[in-house]
Amino acid sequence: MINVRIPATTANVGPGFDCLGIALNIYNNFFVEEIEDGLIIEGCDDEYCNEDNLIYKSMKKCFEKIGYKHKGIRIKIENDIPISRGLGSSASCVLAGVIGANKIAGNKLNKNEILKISSEIEGHPDNVAPALLGGMVTSIKEGDDIYCSKINIPKGLKFCALIPDFKLSTEKSRAVLPNEIPYKDGVFNVGRVSLMVSALINGQFDLIKLACKDNLHQKYRGSLIKDYDDIINKCKDLDSVGVFLSGAGPTIMAMIKEDDINFYDRIKEYTSNLENTWTIRELNIDNKGVEI
Ligand code: HSE
Repeated sequence: MINVRIPATTANVGPGFDCLGIALNIYNNFFVEEIEDGLIIEGCDDEYCNEDNLIYKSMKKCFEKIGYKHKGIRIKIENDIPISRGLGSSASCVLAGVIGANKIAGNKLNKNEILKISSEIEGHPDNVAPALLGGMVTSIKEGDDIYCSKINIPKGLKFCALIPDFKLSTEKSRAVLPNEIPYKDGVFNVGRVSLMVSALINGQFDLIKLACKDNLHQKYRGSLIKDYDDIINKCKDLDSVGVFLSGAGPTIMAMIKEDDINFYDRIKEYTSNLENTWTIRELNIDNKGVEI
């Protein structure tokens, strides 16, 4: 079987709505093969083991683009990225489908084409781009194309994912966003996202706290997440470098200094007193992305 391993991602990184994302070292492993007939999907809940499965739908879309007539398909999933938690699990399924189908069809597509098809399926490029390329990636859609720039973050940062025991779909989390925003909110975000990118490139970690501020999505989405403000404030009190909502949420992501040995235990202790269960995961950047 063809094995495709995809890293988790944290999208938006505060103010970079739909354009910034970082790959992290949690992985989903997918195995795909062409079989004589039918569709076999193993390793997920029964409700997803059918023609509507996102991996299978992404494979079909890729086969269509290439013009490859496939026979049956077998898919096996080994999941470690939490589902519907804002850590790029659906992007991992899309990429696995497109990359797996491309391999079955004889590697007709290059990385750019894989990125284009995957972003089209996902609707925005900020998870699929870093998952595919690794590291921190800025990605934009221009016409039908996706343009990316990879940012090398200097050593010295690690991540803490605070993952709640409830799911939040991207659809629901996008539904609370306004259709229009005041001009000043746009200006506010342009400044913060520029600061985020340049401060990360230059290793000016003391500026990240300010750079995490945003007026486009976090304040609207926070209301969907119980204890959101308290957890954000606690992460700030505990001297995180920065803290933001991971993708569409509900995971909250803190960036911390590599030599901070207390943060994980302290935030674990704090969240253990909350009504919801919050899983704390110690993470690092995945710089490799996916082998195609
Ligand atoms: N940029 C997207 C959003 C990420 O915030 O809705 C979703 O994973």
